[in-house]
Amino acid sequence: MIIPKPLVEQIHAGEFAFPDELPVHLAYGKDHGYSYFVADELSQRLRVAAGKFVSIRDSHPEDHTPAVVLTDQNVPEDLGPEGYQLTITPERITLRASSNAGLFYAGQSLIQLLHHQRTQIAPVGSNGSTTLAGLPCIDIRDRPRFPWRGFMLDSARHFQPVEMITRLIDQIAAMKLNRFHWHLTDDQGWRLEILSYPRLTGVGAWRNNGQGSSRYGGYYTQQQVRELVAYAKMRQITIVPEIDIPSHNLAALAAYPELSCHGEAREVTGDWGLRDGVYCAGRDQTFTFLENVAAEVAALFPGSPIHLGGDERKPGLWDSCPRCHGLRKDLELPDESSLQKWFMDKVAAHIRQAHGRRSISWGDIIDYGCSDDFIVQGWVKGQAGKAAAKGIDTINSTNDWVYLDYPQSAQEHAASYPDWMQTLPLEKVYGFDPIPEGLKPQHHKHILGSEANLWTEFVPDEAQLYHQIMPRLYAFSETVWSPVEHRDFTDFENRLEIQRTLIQPK
Ligand code: ACM
Ligand code: ZN
Repeated sequence: MIIPKPLVEQIHAGEFAFPDELPVHLAYGKDHGYSYFVADELSQRLRVAAGKFVSIRDSHPEDHTPAVVLTDQNVPEDLGPEGYQLTITPERITLRASSNAGLFYAGQSLIQLLHHQRTQIAPVGSNGSTTLAGLPCIDIRDRPRFPWRGFMLDSARHFQPVEMITRLIDQIAAMKLNRFHWHLTDDQGWRLEILSYPRLTGVGAWRNNGQGSSRYGGYYTQQQVRELVAYAKMRQITIVPEIDIPSHNLAALAAYPELSCHGEAREVTGDWGLRDGVYCAGRDQTFTFLENVAAEVAALFPGSPIHLGGDERKPGLWDSCPRCHGLRKDLELPDESSLQKWFMDKVAAHIRQAHGRRSISWGDIIDYGCSDDFIVQGWVKGQAGKAAAKGIDTINSTNDWVYLDYPQSAQEHAASYPDWMQTLPLEKVYGFDPIPEGLKPQHHKHILGSEANLWTEFVPDEAQLYHQIMPRLYAFSETVWSPVEHRDFTDFENRLEIQRTLIQPK
């Protein structure tokens, strides 16, 4: 019934019948503020589903009085830091968890059960009553397979208004994903307000859309970002910002041309593809700039590593710059890739030292080396396995399986997607294993998990965004949450039919 499929799900005879007044008890020995948040959302859902009066009480339930109970007592020990138990008996609906994450996920599973039962009595689209009389007895014990379960959104190629990001966070939280990787800068736009460099958004957030003088763009203010980070945190999601260096930076260079090798005027581009927006490695002010930006980013995104991009630097640019070439010779580095290793390590070392954070790099880094403090995000086949085998913590986002900007069928591909994309059907996403083939068991622990990625060159609006991610993100959620031995595509499709109706944005 639930996506992603729980570890253990046992249905028993009997039913919890909803009483006319349904109490939701917060049964904690000590103050437990977060449980109010979970109880509040649950109460609203129960009220609608059961059509009964629901009240929240900060107390233990009385014996034999039908009740919903949220508690941290008697939680099975083997459920890990994000696990939970959800038990329904004729007199209790009990959500047990020893962490906020576990409690939130127990709530999400109960919400899916409510929805499932309502669609059983009144299929979606029918005009029947959808008020539930009760819920079947069940025992669910659940925990995720991987700690890093992410979704990446590119807000540079197309800009999504902040309300759209909020709705998206609701959707991915319901799938028990816990990282929202936010690609905030690229050649086509700089989307994050940086107070010490106002031209980044004053200039870098806007591009000519090719139709006369009209501009396309937008950016997120620091206040909006703080609110989103807090909103996501309540839903157990860490927002991971990506500030891509050294390449993919035409927007930043349009704002501050003095950070480029030759200092010439640049424009924020509306074209796609590999560009030459590279920061000059040989200028001190490049690093002053990056350190100042990193300070604001670190303050806005507490508790998250900082993604430094590091992908797709166009070869030849640095060697054609007297400063970069001179620096490379002074450092006795054999080639531009070694200079990129030096560049990335320098910025990451500063972030570690000044802000106590790790940095993340796209898998390109594996070809030229990096410090073990980096988390590597493999995106080309082979990168994730290579990184993990070296003992580096790795996120496996291999494009063949999890690039949700790709079309879902051959027909779709032929009709409107570029040739260079692969076709990525639902079943292929469902068959993804974040543990790369051939990776030795002793290295499995370095696969932190995976992220499904949505690049937005061809995703101009919310309708297209949901077309790309639904239902493939549901399949993805199961690849990072559920045991690989439990995979069953037909069973998944049956569960999906029900959840499909729950996942549409309002
Ligand atoms: C990437 O797709 N350039 C990481
Ligand atoms: Zn240079």
